[in-house]
Amino acid sequence: MRISQSWQPISLRYGDNGHLWLANTDLHALAQDKGTPLYVLDLATLMARCQAYQQCFNAYPGKVQLVYASKALSCVGVLQLMHKLGFAVDVVSGGELLTAFKAGLPGEKIVFHGNNKSRAELLDALMAGTGRIVIDSLDELTRLESLVHDTGLPAEVLLRVVPGIEAHTHEHIKTGQRDTKFGIPSEQVLEAVRRVLKQPRIRFCGLHAHVGSQIFDAEPLAQCAEVLLDLAAHIETQTGTWIDDLNIGGGLGIAYTDSDHPVALEQVAERLIISIQNKCSQLKKPLPRLMLEPGRSLVATAGLTLYSVGTLKEILGVRSIAAVDGGMADNPRPITYGAKYTVDCVNKATEDLTHKYRVVGKFCESGDILLKEAQLPKLDIGDVLVVYATGAYNYSMASNYNRVPRPAMVLVTADQVLDLVARETAEDLLRHDQHLPPDLLK
Ligand SMILES: Cc1ncc(COP(=O)(O)O)c(C=O)c1O
Repeated sequence: MRISQSWQPISLRYGDNGHLWLANTDLHALAQDKGTPLYVLDLATLMARCQAYQQCFNAYPGKVQLVYASKALSCVGVLQLMHKLGFAVDVVSGGELLTAFKAGLPGEKIVFHGNNKSRAELLDALMAGTGRIVIDSLDELTRLESLVHDTGLPAEVLLRVVPGIEAHTHEHIKTGQRDTKFGIPSEQVLEAVRRVLKQPRIRFCGLHAHVGSQIFDAEPLAQCAEVLLDLAAHIETQTGTWIDDLNIGGGLGIAYTDSDHPVALEQVAERLIISIQNKCSQLKKPLPRLMLEPGRSLVATAGLTLYSVGTLKEILGVRSIAAVDGGMADNPRPITYGAKYTVDCVNKATEDLTHKYRVVGKFCESGDILLKEAQLPKLDIGDVLVVYATGAYNYSMASNYNRVPRPAMVLVTADQVLDLVARETAEDLLRHDQHLPPDLLK
């Protein structure tokens, strides 16, 4: 196996005992101690990714607000870290909003997204003094207008628009094309702005767009910024109002395997900053505050998942199968998008990769395959496997399929292991079940 790959956390190293270690933590011992499956986050990687974003966008001559897209990984401890590192947080539901609060984020550092926010969620957002509510449709604007009228509370809004840009990524995570459930269709944008401008308690702060996720190229993001600025100029000619904020969403991709080649963050930042500067000087407009909402590219490579091998099966002339104690419920990305990952054996880190396995999960779907083909040392029952780059859209998309409790999550620092999320129990799963009355069952 190889170390220092871009999908691995930066603290990963070989220990003298032939195991994989994360800083001063033996991952095999960690698996024995905390049980598997186990989500593990490397603090050093998380901090390095956050600092890289900050450094790259320091070059923007206007104001910048970096916003962590908490849908990638939301729990109190992670949001506490993001807050400490100077990030605002984007939430898309009442649950994510509450998590941000519990993590100590002040309302003004929260951006509220979602394509169908309920009245209750919008009310929570208003009561919380949410920094920016991102309006996604005229219906949602109607709900907000009525709430602002009823409560007297003010709202600061961005309008999410559809930039009409096709990003080359999986169909399920494209959002910039015209035919999408997200954003206000282009022909309704001016009406939305005019309605907002009529409301004394709703402030029109600017425009938002997000072209998709796992994007490997700077071009769609730069194009998105230019399209938004052209639209802002059109809005200004019609209404006399220029934008304060230009929010171009998240989406920068990461490498999960050898075949992924995402553009470097430095290049994206440089390309974006130049496009915005050029466009603003061409339009003779001041630079807006730049907002970016990275999720995956901040947390994915900080995360890994540890699994124990429980069953080894030889299908003669076909393949060898290694079944682990997790799978599609803790990592739904392979079955949902055909996502690919890289795996190693934690306790045989220095052994030769002599065997080919299909690594499957324990859930009742044939498609519950974590890796279709992995080159590994000869495995034995009880070996611990590590799947890399599972920090984003794993825990946050996990389910209780087959009534399997969700794994615990820990944070590994230079010298400590801290609990981020406790392992669910079967009792947790039963907590909301209600027994039917006995007379119905007679
Ligand atoms: C509005 C918005 N912002 C930010 C993100 C984060 O995207 P990523 O995790 O790809 O950076 C998403 C992801 O779906 C999104 O919908």
